[in-house]
Amino acid sequence: MARPHIEPFVDRDIAFKNMLLPGFGRGMSYKILSMDNETGACTMTVQLAGGYSQVPGFSWSEWEMIVIEGELQLDGRTVRKGHYFYVPAGYAMPAVSSEKGALLLMMYNTGEPSLVEATDHHALCQTNLYHDVDTYLDITWAPGNIVKPSVASGVMIKLLNYNPISHAMTFLYCMTPAFYQDNISYHDCAEESYHLWGTSWMMQFGDVPTGGYFWRPAYINHGAFASEFGCIALGRVDSKLYNHFHYNPWSTPVQNQKRAAARVYQRDPLLYRWMVSYSHNHPHGPEDFEQTVQLRGKDYPNNEPATDGHQHSHWHTHEHHHDDDHDQ
Ligand SMILES: [Fe+2]
Repeated sequence: MARPHIEPFVDRDIAFKNMLLPGFGRGMSYKILSMDNETGACTMTVQLAGGYSQVPGFSWSEWEMIVIEGELQLDGRTVRKGHYFYVPAGYAMPAVSSEKGALLLMMYNTGEPSLVEATDHHALCQTNLYHDVDTYLDITWAPGNIVKPSVASGVMIKLLNYNPISHAMTFLYCMTPAFYQDNISYHDCAEESYHLWGTSWMMQFGDVPTGGYFWRPAYINHGAFASEFGCIALGRVDSKLYNHFHYNPWSTPVQNQKRAAARVYQRDPLLYRWMVSYSHNHPHGPEDFEQTVQLRGKDYPNNEPATDGHQHSHWHTHEHHHDDDHDQ
């Protein structure tokens, strides 16, 4: 996802704007926390005024939502703060209203916010993926150290959504009072967090208070961490979460990426053969694996002529730059 690094950021520091996109009801206002300028995918804090109502309908984008404060009415039931929704693209939600108003965190994952009036799901919707749950009352905390290498004890999690293909996750996490972790982390995935309540501290970015937010691309150092009184947050990662830990606050994202690749080489040398190419470690199509092998052997006989000034070419389904300093 091509969202820039947003950190530090606190939604309390900016004003709400009126939501004017078609489909949504009057009385909806929003703050953009991060946005993918290519797709329109975004994360927003959303305020619904008391008396808000919207028509039943679906979005062209997959979206997720958690109620931060207040209550919503939908489908003859009232949901309260801590209620989480995972809604696949094309899934027709019932009419939604909020008698007394509500504060929401909304995440449109694959496109800009949209609401198409409908009572039937789109024909191609993966309806079986839909789920919603009261995360505060109906899921218990689990130790955060189920992921190895582990964060320090004192982090607890509630897993809310898991994509078995990408290994992307959405989860609640909390830090217990007097929590600390003295090392520095980075990951191979982008990481996003919104503080529902409480304050934590990071060496690089300072305090993250209630309403604090970050969208952090891969390989950026974060930590040490601490929280004096504890905090609760919604977190997401866009692919497999692996905790690379170290104690060098001066390492750069490029150095971290190379160190992560070296770790893959140690752990999975055959996988490394397929993936390592630094800025080109993403699949483009079946023939790309063939090209990767050719690139490693510095043999390009079957490639199309390079059009970008480099010694190789392959499908590009999205914009990205080519580093000239890497070893092909
Ligand atoms: Fe992290």
